[in-house]
Amino acid sequence: MNKFYIYGPTKLSGKVNISGAKNSALPILFATLLTENIVEIKNIPKLKDIDVAIKLLNKLGAKIKKSKSIYINPKNIDICCPYYLSNNIRASIWILSPLLARFGYGIIPLPGGCAIGTRPIDLHLFGLRKLGANITVKDKYIKASVSGKLKGVYINMSKISVGATLTIMIAATLAIGTTIIDNAAKEPEIIDTANFLITLGAKIYGAGTNKIIINGVNYLNGGVYTILPDRIETGTFLVAAAISRGHITCYSTYPTLLNEVLIKLCEAGADIKTGKNWISLNMHGKRPNGVIIRTSPYPGFPTDMQAQFSLLNLVASGVSKITETIFENRFRHIIELIKMGAKAKIIGNTVLCYGVKKLFGTDVVATDLRSSISLILAGCIAQGVTTVHNIHYVYRGYDSIEKKLKLIGANIKLVNNKLNNSN
Ligand code: EPZ
Repeated sequence: MNKFYIYGPTKLSGKVNISGAKNSALPILFATLLTENIVEIKNIPKLKDIDVAIKLLNKLGAKIKKSKSIYINPKNIDICCPYYLSNNIRASIWILSPLLARFGYGIIPLPGGCAIGTRPIDLHLFGLRKLGANITVKDKYIKASVSGKLKGVYINMSKISVGATLTIMIAATLAIGTTIIDNAAKEPEIIDTANFLITLGAKIYGAGTNKIIINGVNYLNGGVYTILPDRIETGTFLVAAAISRGHITCYSTYPTLLNEVLIKLCEAGADIKTGKNWISLNMHGKRPNGVIIRTSPYPGFPTDMQAQFSLLNLVASGVSKITETIFENRFRHIIELIKMGAKAKIIGNTVLCYGVKKLFGTDVVATDLRSSISLILAGCIAQGVTTVHNIHYVYRGYDSIEKKLKLIGANIKLVNNKLNNSN
């Protein structure tokens, strides 16, 4: 497994261009299976999870051409998804609904995803069954079928789920009649996926609110679509400058995507300025103040920013706390940060943070995507050398992360264990 050697402390300051949103690109890539016409998608981030998604589409029979954009020709598609690859990523669950909606049949392996909780799919399957699908889960495979077409229906979600809202919205696009998703997730990536489908001719209303209405259509055209900027990458770089008392400007991003994160950064003492497609943060050399965070579905504070703000609180002045309400196992980075000298106490789904002035470099182990970036940023501000193991996680969600961090002053070196062991 590869690792990073990170030499600190460094002040992270400068300019960064934000890439397309991973959590938009993934559902949109799989939603292309709904049409038999060619689609061009722009601003796709260069990520491991995207590579896996493209390989899966290829294995399913889609013809793909990659240049600045990605061109997908999903005319000839197989209805059975290969096991390997698809159990690596959570997003492969979004293969089932387009296959079911377009062909009336689909088989996929149970999805993978970061080990931040049990990651059930009951709400996805509940929605598809409400639309008329027969679904069985056996030997790690999900088989779904429907005689004729899926039928539009009223669906009230017992719990807000980004993934399940997308599964149902995608499936309902080609259903007969109207589907209403009540208590729908409202994330910007759901709006982005809806806008993509509308570009192809779908009739979707209310994406981004808690009630999405889909009038099923018989057929989707091709089209061209540009992916939204990644609000979590944006927030991550803003935190990078905040914890190192530096200043940064993020370009090619929209401040409106991360209001709650900007509010919390201001509370932490950051001087924030914004324009239509840029955000700047300046700490004026000051140490951040600790803030109280409670993660919740959009437009609340995003759970995908929790690990980064844990780090901020742990080097901020004062005592602060973070409550994680979305996933049940998302504090594993805290244990690693304590190894670096952080002071924290985990009580159930809350962590009390006792800010320290300094962290110290040591060996730490990444356990999921957002913990990996939190540990990498901790290494950038720690005294001495930090070795972050299992850094394959970070490539799942951050486009060109080494290059972007070096551009703002990080002193980071990739070590390939295989090479290292051989000498
Ligand atoms: C998506 O995961 C994102 N992943 C996650 O980002 C993000 O943290 C999460 O939404 C919440 O915003 C992608 O888009 C690929 P959920 P998802 O369904 O869809 C429970 C990252 O770091 N639930 O909104 O899996 C679930 O256990 C990743 O980029 C059920 O109970 O999240 C959780 O407690 C991590 N049954 C809650 O709902 C279900 O069928 C929210 O999960 C589905 C979910």
